Amino acid sequence: MLKSTLIKAAEASGKLIKESINGKFSIEFKEGHNNLVTEVDKASEALIMSIIREDFPDHFILSEEIGEIKMDSAYKWIIDPIDGTINFANGIPLCCVSIGIEKEGEMIMGAVYNPMMNEFFFVEKGKGAYLNDQRIQVSQQEKLLNSCLVTGFPYTYLEAENGPLDVFGRLIRAGIPVRRLGSAAIDLCWVAAGRFDGFYEHKLMAWDSAAGYLMVEEAGGKVTGFKGEKYSPYQPHIVATNGKIHQDLLSWISNTHQQ
Ligand code: IPD
Ligand code: CA
Ligand code: CA
Repeated sequence: MLKSTLIKAAEASGKLIKESINGKFSIEFKEGHNNLVTEVDKASEALIMSIIREDFPDHFILSEEIGEIKMDSAYKWIIDPIDGTINFANGIPLCCVSIGIEKEGEMIMGAVYNPMMNEFFFVEKGKGAYLNDQRIQVSQQEKLLNSCLVTGFPYTYLEAENGPLDVFGRLIRAGIPVRRLGSAAIDLCWVAAGRFDGFYEHKLMAWDSAAGYLMVEEAGGKVTGFKGEKYSPYQPHIVATNGKIHQDLLSWISNTHQQ
């Protein structure tokens, strides 16, 4: 039932996103410059929550726009009703819904759906990661210098030492392609699918990475914080790779790599 509810919620949200992306919708600004939310983010969230609530009225929910709905339950649904909102608001078809499910503090299942590309990613702990029902695997690339990476930029901390621009500049100057799609959930799924060899970002929230990081792990990749520590979606740093370039990418981020 968990799986069918998850799929039902992601499909319903995806349908709404696809129907709305080129239409008219109101936009509000949240705290900070360019931090926007559309009425479709809110409608997507309400739809997902109503589907979860029908089957699991007592599960804990953490969702980007509404926050926490605390319940005394082993299960926690972590929802990003639209990941890539700026893309969505500009009609750029690189956005998705992302839903992860934790059981007793461990991520056990997730779905990321980009309806514009008809790409539905599903993951279950111990059972693999899938794109449209086909099992996916991370890439085999062994050399960071030959890798294709992806990242994202927050609106703050940009100039810090080893901050987003510092790391980006280092990698780009070394001739390593680093893309910026604008949706962390898609970035992670594309690492899982072997399209990118690695992803890093300085400031993510739990709803950005909940489903996607399990996707990378179940596709055979590795996910940690910036010091190589066990990953937690409740802290901001993430490095997610095919595993082979992981150590190298960590050392480029901390600027301790061999010159
Ligand atoms: C954002 C996207 C973006 C990442 C930001 C996130 P939102 O989520 O995932 O790629 O760089 O850190 O906040 O606001 O579009 O849901
Ligand atoms: Ca997000
Ligand atoms: Ca969002």
